[in-house]
Amino acid sequence: MDAAQDLPRRPRRLRRDSATRALLQETHVTVNDLIWPLFVKDGKGDAEAVPSMPGVARHTIEGLVDECREASEAGIKAVALFPVTPAEQKDAQGTEALNPNCLVLRAVRALKKVLPELLVITDVALDPYTTHGHDGELNTEGTDVDNDATVAILAKMAVCHAEAGVDWVAPSDMMDGRVGAIRTALDADGHTGVSILAYSAKYASAFYGPFRDAVGSQSATGTAYLDKRTYQLNPANPRESIVEVALDIEEGADILMVKPAGAYLDILCRMRQLTDLPLAAYQVSGEYSQIHAAAERGWLDLAATRDESLLAIKRAGADLILTYFAKDIAQALQTVDE
Ligand code: PBG
Repeated sequence: MDAAQDLPRRPRRLRRDSATRALLQETHVTVNDLIWPLFVKDGKGDAEAVPSMPGVARHTIEGLVDECREASEAGIKAVALFPVTPAEQKDAQGTEALNPNCLVLRAVRALKKVLPELLVITDVALDPYTTHGHDGELNTEGTDVDNDATVAILAKMAVCHAEAGVDWVAPSDMMDGRVGAIRTALDADGHTGVSILAYSAKYASAFYGPFRDAVGSQSATGTAYLDKRTYQLNPANPRESIVEVALDIEEGADILMVKPAGAYLDILCRMRQLTDLPLAAYQVSGEYSQIHAAAERGWLDLAATRDESLLAIKRAGADLILTYFAKDIAQALQTVDE
C-alpha cells in the first residue's frame, strides 16, 4: 500500500456514510414546497390520459376532487387548476373566461366545498378559451395579441376567480401591466386577501408542448408550434427577466415565478439574489415528460431523476415548485417517514 498523502483537508470525510451525508445536506425538498398542477374537463365518467404526459390525465370535476383529496392526505397544500375547454365554447375573444360558471370555477367551488383548507390557484390567461390558442385577444389585423384590451379582460377574470373562492390568481399571459391592473381590480372588489402569483419570467419555451396537447391550445391553432414570442421572453435573454420581475414587484406581485425551471436555473438564481419576495418555479410539462420518456426506455431512473430535478430547482433558489410530480413525491416522502 502506498503511504497516505499528507492532506489536512479531506472533503470525502463528510461524505463517508449516510448519517453524515444527511446531517450535512444543504437543500431539501419537502411536501410544503410543492404545488400540483391538474387538468380538468367537463362531463362525467373516466379521466382521459394525456398521451404526451405519462401519469397525467384530464379529470372530471368529481375525479379532480378525489385526486385532490388523496394529494391533500399526502400533505400537498396547494393545487393549480387548468381547464380543458370544449372547442364549441372557444371564440376569438375568449369570452368563456368571464363566465362565472365556467368549468374551472365550477371545479374551484367543488374543491372548496370538500377540501376548504387546500389552497387553490388558477391561471389568469385567455389561452384555454381562445380559438387561436393565444393568451389574449388579437388586434384588429389579427397579427398580434392586443395588450391593453387583454389586460382589461384579465382584471375582470381575476375578480371572477376571486369571487369563486380562488386563493391565489396566477397571471400567466405576460401582458404588460397586468399585475397592477389585477391588483387594483381585486382590491376594488374587496379581495385584498387574494394573492398574485405572477408568472414574471415566463420564457417562450418549446418545453410547453405537452401542456398545449393537454389543454388543446396547440390544436386550436392548427399549427405545429404556437408562437408566443411577442409576449413571452426570449430564451436567450437573462437581463430581460430582471426588467420583468422589477415591474411585477412594483405592480404588487406577492410571489414571483420563473418558468420553465430546469433549463432556467440561472434565472432563478439571479431572482433569488434580486428579491426577498417568495420565489416559485414551474417545472413544466416538457421537463416532466422527458424524464418519463427516458425512464420508459430504461435510460433513466424515474424516481432518482425526478428527485434530482426538483432538488436542483430548490438549490437554485425556488421556495415553491409547481410540478406534475407533486403527488407522487408527496406519497414517496410519506413512505420514507413511516
Ligand atoms: C398558458 C400556460 C402555459 C403553461 C401554463 N400556462 C403554456 C403556454 O404558455 O402556452 C405551460 C405549463 C406547462 O408546460 O406545463 N397561459
